[in-house]
Amino acid sequence: QTSKANYHPKVHDHYEKPRNVGLMDKNDPNVGTGLVGAPACGDVMRLQIKVDDNGTIIDAKFKTFGCGSAIASSSYASELIKGLGIDEAKNIKNTAIAKELCLPPVKLHCSMLAEDAIKSAIEDYKRKKLLAL
Ligand code: FES
Ligand code: FES
Repeated sequence: QTSKANYHPKVHDHYEKPRNVGLMDKNDPNVGTGLVGAPACGDVMRLQIKVDDNGTIIDAKFKTFGCGSAIASSSYASELIKGLGIDEAKNIKNTAIAKELCLPPVKLHCSMLAEDAIKSAIEDYKRKKLLAL
């Protein structure tokens, strides 16, 4: 556990004013829900995406039960993926998130949670689309 004062200003900004916190209807056929946990610390992140018929992510919502870096990573990730196609979004690397937020090495796994959550939400969306065929 790092004290809040040790966070980089960019992390602090997302932590104090997280973007896109919320919950979508997981039964909506255009919504994909990713729920992932970090084995290293037990933190949990839920990320949801809303995808239009062209495969573009038109909205994103998250809720993270975890440290400041995990909250900041999910907040930033939720902004980053809006407007991207799902195939672009699934290539987002945690290192890009960590770099943007200037996360120190011990906090890399927090950004990994965001990468995993994006992938998990996309997988869920694709699974639902297949089931609907
Ligand atoms: Fe305490 Fe992540 S920093 S659980
Ligand atoms: Fe585990 Fe940040 S300390 S997600």
